[in-house]
Amino acid sequence: MRIIEAKNYEDMSKKAAEIIAAKVVLHPNCLLGLATGSTPVGTYQNLVKKYNDGELDFSKVRSVNLDEYKGLSGEHEQSYRYFMNTNFFDHINIDKSNTFVPNGLTEDSLEGCKQYNELLHSMGAVDLQLLGIGGNGHIGFNEPSHEFKKEVHCVQLAESTVEANARFFASKEDVPKYAYTMGIGNIMSAKTILLLASGKEKANAIYESFFGPITPKVQGSILQLHTNVIVIADEDALSIAKEKGVF
Ligand code: GLP
Repeated sequence: MRIIEAKNYEDMSKKAAEIIAAKVVLHPNCLLGLATGSTPVGTYQNLVKKYNDGELDFSKVRSVNLDEYKGLSGEHEQSYRYFMNTNFFDHINIDKSNTFVPNGLTEDSLEGCKQYNELLHSMGAVDLQLLGIGGNGHIGFNEPSHEFKKEVHCVQLAESTVEANARFFASKEDVPKYAYTMGIGNIMSAKTILLLASGKEKANAIYESFFGPITPKVQGSILQLHTNVIVIADEDALSIAKEKGVF
Protein backbone atom coordinates (compact mmCIF):
# COMPACT_ATOMS: atom_id res chain seq x y z
CA MET A 1 0.00 0.00 0.00
CA ARG A 2 1.25 3.41 -0.93
CA ILE A 3 -0.13 6.51 0.78
CA ILE A 4 0.59 9.72 -1.07
CA GLU A 5 0.01 12.97 0.77
CA ALA A 6 -1.50 15.77 -1.28
CA LYS A 7 -1.52 19.39 -0.20
CA ASN A 8 -5.22 19.91 -0.74
CA TYR A 9 -8.19 18.88 -2.90
CA GLU A 10 -6.73 20.39 -6.09
CA ASP A 11 -3.40 18.67 -5.60
CA MET A 12 -5.13 15.34 -4.84
CA SER A 13 -7.22 15.68 -8.00
CA LYS A 14 -4.19 16.44 -10.18
CA LYS A 15 -2.20 13.52 -8.84
CA ALA A 16 -5.14 11.13 -9.26
CA ALA A 17 -5.70 12.28 -12.85
CA GLU A 18 -2.01 11.68 -13.61
CA ILE A 19 -2.28 8.09 -12.43
CA ILE A 20 -5.48 7.40 -14.38
CA ALA A 21 -4.08 9.12 -17.47
CA ALA A 22 -0.96 6.95 -17.31
CA LYS A 23 -3.17 3.85 -17.25
CA VAL A 24 -5.12 5.02 -20.30
CA VAL A 25 -1.90 5.83 -22.17
CA LEU A 26 -0.37 2.44 -21.34
CA HIS A 27 -3.55 0.45 -21.93
CA PRO A 28 -5.86 2.31 -24.32
CA ASN A 29 -8.47 -0.45 -24.01
CA CYS A 30 -8.36 -0.62 -20.22
CA LEU A 31 -11.35 -1.26 -17.99
CA LEU A 32 -11.75 1.54 -15.46
CA GLY A 33 -13.80 1.16 -12.29
CA LEU A 34 -15.29 4.57 -11.60
CA ALA A 35 -16.73 6.31 -8.57
CA THR A 36 -19.09 9.17 -7.84
CA GLY A 37 -19.40 11.66 -4.99
CA SER A 38 -17.78 15.04 -4.61
CA THR A 39 -14.30 13.57 -4.12
CA PRO A 40 -13.56 12.49 -7.74
CA VAL A 41 -15.14 15.52 -9.44
CA GLY A 42 -11.81 17.39 -9.66
CA THR A 43 -10.09 14.27 -10.95
CA TYR A 44 -12.62 14.00 -13.77
CA GLN A 45 -12.14 17.70 -14.55
CA ASN A 46 -8.39 17.20 -14.84
CA LEU A 47 -8.91 14.20 -17.12
CA VAL A 48 -11.30 16.20 -19.32
CA LYS A 49 -8.65 18.90 -19.57
CA LYS A 50 -6.03 16.36 -20.62
CA TYR A 51 -8.47 15.04 -23.21
CA ASN A 52 -9.12 18.56 -24.53
CA ASP A 53 -5.38 19.15 -24.71
CA GLY A 54 -5.11 16.09 -26.96
CA GLU A 55 -3.22 14.00 -24.40
CA LEU A 56 -5.78 11.23 -23.96
CA ASP A 57 -7.94 9.01 -26.12
CA PHE A 58 -10.83 7.24 -24.39
CA SER A 59 -12.33 5.71 -27.53
CA LYS A 60 -11.42 2.16 -26.51
CA VAL A 61 -11.77 2.56 -22.76
CA ARG A 62 -14.57 0.67 -21.00
CA SER A 63 -15.89 1.49 -17.57
CA VAL A 64 -17.96 0.04 -14.75
CA ASN A 65 -19.29 2.09 -11.87
CA LEU A 66 -19.40 1.09 -8.27
CA ASP A 67 -22.96 1.81 -7.37
CA GLU A 68 -26.33 3.43 -8.06
CA TYR A 69 -29.27 4.55 -5.99
CA LYS A 70 -32.19 2.15 -6.19
CA GLY A 71 -35.28 3.85 -7.61
CA LEU A 72 -33.55 6.59 -9.61
CA SER A 73 -33.50 6.53 -13.40
CA GLY A 74 -30.37 7.53 -15.29
CA GLU A 75 -32.09 10.81 -16.18
CA HIS A 76 -32.59 11.78 -12.54
CA GLU A 77 -30.13 14.55 -11.71
CA GLN A 78 -28.95 12.80 -8.57
CA SER A 79 -28.50 9.39 -10.14
CA TYR A 80 -24.95 8.20 -10.49
CA ARG A 81 -25.47 7.57 -14.22
CA TYR A 82 -26.40 11.22 -14.64
CA PHE A 83 -23.39 12.21 -12.54
CA MET A 84 -21.04 10.18 -14.72
CA ASN A 85 -22.46 11.57 -17.94
CA THR A 86 -22.41 15.20 -16.88
CA ASN A 87 -19.11 15.16 -14.97
CA PHE A 88 -17.11 12.98 -17.31
CA PHE A 89 -18.53 10.95 -20.20
CA ASP A 90 -20.23 13.87 -22.01
CA HIS A 91 -16.87 15.66 -22.22
CA ILE A 92 -14.60 12.90 -23.56
CA ASN A 93 -14.66 10.53 -26.52
CA ILE A 94 -15.63 7.41 -24.57
CA ASP A 95 -18.27 5.25 -26.27
CA LYS A 96 -21.15 5.46 -23.78
CA SER A 97 -22.32 1.98 -24.74
CA ASN A 98 -19.08 0.78 -23.13
CA THR A 99 -19.88 2.50 -19.82
CA PHE A 100 -21.87 0.63 -17.20
CA VAL A 101 -23.68 1.72 -14.05
CA PRO A 102 -26.16 -0.50 -12.17
CA ASN A 103 -29.72 0.07 -13.36
CA GLY A 104 -31.42 1.85 -10.46
CA LEU A 105 -34.85 1.14 -11.90
CA THR A 106 -34.64 -2.63 -11.59
CA GLU A 107 -37.33 -3.18 -8.96
CA ASP A 108 -36.50 -6.76 -8.14
CA SER A 109 -33.34 -6.37 -6.06
CA LEU A 110 -32.16 -9.93 -6.58
CA GLU A 111 -32.54 -9.54 -10.32
CA GLY A 112 -30.78 -6.15 -10.28
CA CYS A 113 -27.84 -7.60 -8.38
CA LYS A 114 -27.64 -10.69 -10.56
CA GLN A 115 -27.62 -8.64 -13.77
CA TYR A 116 -24.85 -6.29 -12.65
CA ASN A 117 -22.79 -9.06 -11.11
CA GLU A 118 -22.94 -11.08 -14.33
CA LEU A 119 -22.00 -8.03 -16.30
CA LEU A 120 -18.95 -7.42 -14.07
CA HIS A 121 -17.83 -11.01 -14.45
CA SER A 122 -18.24 -10.85 -18.22
CA MET A 123 -16.05 -7.73 -18.45
CA GLY A 124 -13.02 -9.30 -16.75
CA ALA A 125 -10.79 -7.73 -14.14
CA VAL A 126 -10.91 -3.99 -13.62
CA ASP A 127 -7.50 -2.50 -14.41
CA LEU A 128 -7.87 0.47 -12.11
CA GLN A 129 -10.66 1.03 -9.60
CA LEU A 130 -11.18 4.58 -8.38
CA LEU A 131 -12.69 4.89 -4.90
CA GLY A 132 -13.82 7.60 -2.55
CA ILE A 133 -14.59 6.79 1.06
CA GLY A 134 -17.57 7.54 3.27
CA GLY A 135 -17.13 9.26 6.63
CA ASN A 136 -18.00 5.89 8.21
CA GLY A 137 -15.39 4.10 6.09
CA HIS A 138 -17.78 2.80 3.44
CA ILE A 139 -16.48 2.04 -0.04
CA GLY A 140 -18.97 1.96 -2.89
CA PHE A 141 -22.07 1.63 -0.73
CA ASN A 142 -20.68 -1.16 1.43
CA GLU A 143 -21.87 0.15 4.75
CA PRO A 144 -20.52 -0.84 8.19
CA SER A 145 -21.70 -4.37 8.90
CA HIS A 146 -20.82 -7.62 10.63
CA GLU A 147 -19.59 -9.05 7.32
CA PHE A 148 -17.91 -8.21 4.03
CA LYS A 149 -20.33 -8.85 1.17
CA LYS A 150 -18.60 -10.47 -1.74
CA GLU A 151 -20.68 -9.57 -4.77
CA VAL A 152 -23.16 -7.00 -6.02
CA HIS A 153 -25.91 -6.46 -3.47
CA CYS A 154 -28.72 -4.12 -2.62
CA VAL A 155 -27.98 -2.25 0.57
CA GLN A 156 -29.95 -0.11 2.96
CA LEU A 157 -28.02 3.12 3.35
CA ALA A 158 -26.74 4.01 6.81
CA GLU A 159 -28.46 6.98 8.44
CA SER A 160 -25.14 8.88 8.39
CA THR A 161 -24.82 8.25 4.63
CA VAL A 162 -28.36 9.47 3.96
CA GLU A 163 -27.54 12.59 5.98
CA ALA A 164 -24.21 13.14 4.23
CA ASN A 165 -25.80 12.77 0.79
CA ALA A 166 -28.87 14.88 1.62
CA ARG A 167 -26.90 17.97 0.55
CA PHE A 168 -27.47 16.96 -3.07
CA PHE A 169 -31.25 16.50 -2.72
CA ALA A 170 -34.09 18.93 -2.00
CA SER A 171 -34.55 17.31 1.41
CA LYS A 172 -33.31 14.35 3.42
CA GLU A 173 -36.60 12.57 2.70
CA ASP A 174 -35.76 12.62 -1.02
CA VAL A 175 -32.53 10.64 -0.59
CA PRO A 176 -33.14 7.04 -1.72
CA LYS A 177 -32.83 4.60 1.15
CA TYR A 178 -31.43 1.71 -0.88
CA ALA A 179 -28.67 1.32 -3.44
CA TYR A 180 -27.10 -1.30 -5.65
CA THR A 181 -23.39 -1.60 -5.04
CA MET A 182 -20.43 -3.71 -6.06
CA GLY A 183 -19.49 -6.00 -3.21
CA ILE A 184 -16.13 -6.05 -1.50
CA GLY A 185 -15.11 -9.08 -3.55
CA ASN A 186 -15.85 -7.23 -6.79
CA ILE A 187 -13.83 -4.23 -5.60
CA MET A 188 -10.93 -6.35 -4.36
CA SER A 189 -10.64 -8.11 -7.74
CA ALA A 190 -9.39 -4.90 -9.36
CA LYS A 191 -5.73 -5.03 -10.35
CA THR A 192 -5.05 -1.58 -8.92
CA ILE A 193 -7.13 0.46 -6.49
CA LEU A 194 -6.83 4.23 -6.25
CA LEU A 195 -8.59 5.66 -3.21
CA LEU A 196 -8.98 9.42 -2.79
CA ALA A 197 -9.82 11.38 0.33
CA SER A 198 -9.93 15.06 1.07
CA GLY A 199 -10.98 17.01 4.14
CA LYS A 200 -11.16 16.58 7.89
CA GLU A 201 -14.51 14.72 7.61
CA LYS A 202 -12.53 11.84 6.12
CA ALA A 203 -9.65 11.86 8.61
CA ASN A 204 -11.13 9.24 10.90
CA ALA A 205 -12.17 6.98 8.01
CA ILE A 206 -8.61 7.14 6.64
CA TYR A 207 -7.08 6.48 10.04
CA GLU A 208 -9.35 3.53 10.78
CA SER A 209 -9.23 2.06 7.27
CA PHE A 210 -5.48 2.09 6.81
CA PHE A 211 -4.03 2.12 10.31
CA GLY A 212 -6.62 0.16 12.30
CA PRO A 213 -7.78 -3.45 12.49
CA ILE A 214 -9.37 -5.06 9.45
CA THR A 215 -13.03 -5.18 10.31
CA PRO A 216 -16.35 -5.09 8.44
CA LYS A 217 -17.33 -2.25 10.79
CA VAL A 218 -14.93 -0.16 8.69
CA GLN A 219 -15.36 -1.63 5.23
CA GLY A 220 -12.41 0.31 3.76
CA SER A 221 -10.06 -1.54 6.13
CA ILE A 222 -10.22 -4.61 3.86
CA LEU A 223 -8.08 -2.66 1.39
CA GLN A 224 -5.08 -3.35 3.64
CA LEU A 225 -5.18 -6.86 2.20
CA HIS A 226 -5.01 -5.73 -1.44
CA THR A 227 -1.55 -5.91 -2.94
CA ASN A 228 -1.80 -2.81 -5.11
CA VAL A 229 -3.56 0.07 -3.38
CA ILE A 230 -2.67 3.71 -3.83
CA VAL A 231 -4.23 6.20 -1.43
CA ILE A 232 -4.05 9.88 -2.25
CA ALA A 233 -5.18 11.82 0.77
CA ASP A 234 -4.76 15.48 1.52
CA GLU A 235 -3.27 16.93 4.71
CA ASP A 236 -6.69 17.26 6.34
CA ALA A 237 -7.68 13.69 5.52
CA LEU A 238 -4.38 12.49 7.03
CA SER A 239 -4.63 14.73 10.09
CA ILE A 240 -5.71 12.04 12.59
CA ALA A 241 -3.15 9.52 11.31
CA LYS A 242 -0.53 12.24 11.81
CA GLU A 243 -1.76 13.21 15.27
CA LYS A 244 -1.54 9.57 16.30
CA GLY A 245 1.97 9.37 14.87
CA VAL A 246 1.25 6.53 12.45
CA PHE A 247 1.87 8.53 9.28
C1 GLP B 1 -21.11 8.03 -1.53
C2 GLP B 1 -20.67 7.00 -2.61
C3 GLP B 1 -19.26 6.58 -2.43
C4 GLP B 1 -18.42 7.80 -2.10
C5 GLP B 1 -18.80 8.32 -0.74
C6 GLP B 1 -18.14 9.63 -0.39
O1 GLP B 1 -22.19 7.68 -0.76
N1 GLP B 1 -21.49 5.84 -2.70
O2 GLP B 1 -18.80 5.93 -3.61
O3 GLP B 1 -17.06 7.47 -2.07
O4 GLP B 1 -20.19 8.36 -0.55
O5 GLP B 1 -18.73 10.70 -1.04
P1 GLP B 1 -18.06 12.10 -1.18
O6 GLP B 1 -16.93 11.93 -2.13
O7 GLP B 1 -19.13 13.00 -1.72
O8 GLP B 1 -17.60 12.50 0.18
